[in-house]
Amino acid sequence: MSQIDWGAGSYETTAADLLPAARELVAAARIQPGEQVVDVGAGTGNVALVAADLGARVTAVEPAARLREVISESAGSRDLTVVDGTAASLPLADGSADVILSNFAVIFAPDPRAAIAEFARVATPAGRILLTSWLPGVMGKIVGIVAKAVNEVTGSGKAMEGQIDWHDPKSLSDLFGEHGFEVSTTVKDLSVTTTSPEDYWETRIANHPLGVATFPLLKKAGRLEEVRTQTLDAISKDWTTPAGEVRLPAQYLLAIATR
Ligand SMILES: C[S@@+](CC[C@H](N)C(=O)[O-])C[C@H]1O[C@@H](n2cnc3c(N)ncnc32)[C@H](O)[C@@H]1O
Repeated sequence: MSQIDWGAGSYETTAADLLPAARELVAAARIQPGEQVVDVGAGTGNVALVAADLGARVTAVEPAARLREVISESAGSRDLTVVDGTAASLPLADGSADVILSNFAVIFAPDPRAAIAEFARVATPAGRILLTSWLPGVMGKIVGIVAKAVNEVTGSGKAMEGQIDWHDPKSLSDLFGEHGFEVSTTVKDLSVTTTSPEDYWETRIANHPLGVATFPLLKKAGRLEEVRTQTLDAISKDWTTPAGEVRLPAQYLLAIATR
């Protein structure tokens, strides 16, 4: 996953879907004006922009060059600095962040333990760390259809070493506990709606950076049409209204770590 260029294709549609969760994440952080806030894996800046509008001094860390440009263009006169980096390598001083936020982003870190150790390094002693992660269900089922075919094509079916269940409160408590943090969690709803299963396929899967990265492999193996049909069938059967609109009732975990 770390090799994916999140600037490829169009991440913007998914970013719009995730904006309500970004707002929830920022609200849960109870940010005070002047606090130093870091948005890790900032994407198009969903969290960073909302936090800056509350008067925070924000650093958006984003590995994809094109997305860093998107954030910079949106920043306007906000107190928002955009930097290159990853969750396990934040270009920030020890103990410099009052709040570290990561909306569906640190979950892509290839080495979760290194990422959380880095968060612990950068957070102030009283700093708080908040992240979101999908719960198993709708999103996992849809992405799982594509992921299963990609794993079959590449022969890489095994879970990546060192990965954790980001949606599991105990996994998070164990991970953060190593650095003296206690974790509390809440389950949140986030519905994604669009005009049709075909529109969902085009805008959220085929043109999503993960689709752009993996579809050439499926196409070369002659599997792309089959995967498209399976995905459209699943969406049509379970999450399409009689009028043909798609409504995906997803849930995610919002975790707050403090020490
Ligand atoms: C699903 S997007 C979420 C973006 C944004 N937080 C939002 O709310 O829309 C995942 C983001 O994580 C970033 N990302 C991927 N691997 C990362 C890593 N190892 N460290 C930090 N960010 C990473 C991607 O570049 C992408 O912007």
